[in-house]
Amino acid sequence: MEKRNLPVAVFDSGVGGVSVLRELVKLMPLEDFFYFGDSLHAPYGTKKTEEVRELTLENIKRMARRGIKGIVVACNTATSAAITLLREQYTDIPVVGIEPALKPAVMEKEHARVLVLATPMTVHAGKFVSLMERFAGRATMIPLGCPGLMEFVEAGKLEGEELERYLKKLLYPYLSGGIDAVVLGCTHYPFLRNEIQKVMGPGVHILDGSQGTARELRRRLAAMDLLTDRQRPGEVIFEESIPEKIPLCRFLLGC
Ligand code: DGL
Repeated sequence: MEKRNLPVAVFDSGVGGVSVLRELVKLMPLEDFFYFGDSLHAPYGTKKTEEVRELTLENIKRMARRGIKGIVVACNTATSAAITLLREQYTDIPVVGIEPALKPAVMEKEHARVLVLATPMTVHAGKFVSLMERFAGRATMIPLGCPGLMEFVEAGKLEGEELERYLKKLLYPYLSGGIDAVVLGCTHYPFLRNEIQKVMGPGVHILDGSQGTARELRRRLAAMDLLTDRQRPGEVIFEESIPEKIPLCRFLLGC
């Protein structure tokens, strides 16, 4: 098959990367996508960096063997652990990662107070620390590791009392602190956006990096002349290290 008509690989530690996949499909409806979620080894965000790096490289190597024309690491945690190595290994296709959308959040207003929700690994990673330093003079950024939050999405619990209790406990210390924006720095969290909004209140702007990631992939595919020339709706293939999660992936794609 012509390279430009191969699928794009989209990888996450579980079902969360579907929040990026749905933006990819919206922006590039003619493209084929091959999604793999590694729910069997999730969460990645509470593991050691080396382990996440190994899992990510291994999973993507398996995906690449099937023939792909690009890679989207739809996981902030895996991006911080492995994107540099992936870019060294796959030089003839675009390799796009995702990082917490700090830039649009600090543009909100002068000296905005921005709460960044992410996995414990992401908030401690060097990549994130330097990203925060870049914007340090312009806004107050408050990183908050959220162990246990992605598990709600993995279990398909996008609302309900248990989630509400968890979020209230997690966010309570920030409710009276004049937070202007919340950045969702984990690809599982956009599926909890409504519940997070309810707890934070309607005046708080909630942002994530999925649309920016989709635009970046399109730019990179176009620059390498790899956009498909087929004129039919693209297909999405789902694979999961826990195959029973595939129906949840399909459901989340339509959310
Ligand atoms: N979805 C992943 C991210 O964006 C992390 C979830 C996990 O801890 O595995 O960081």
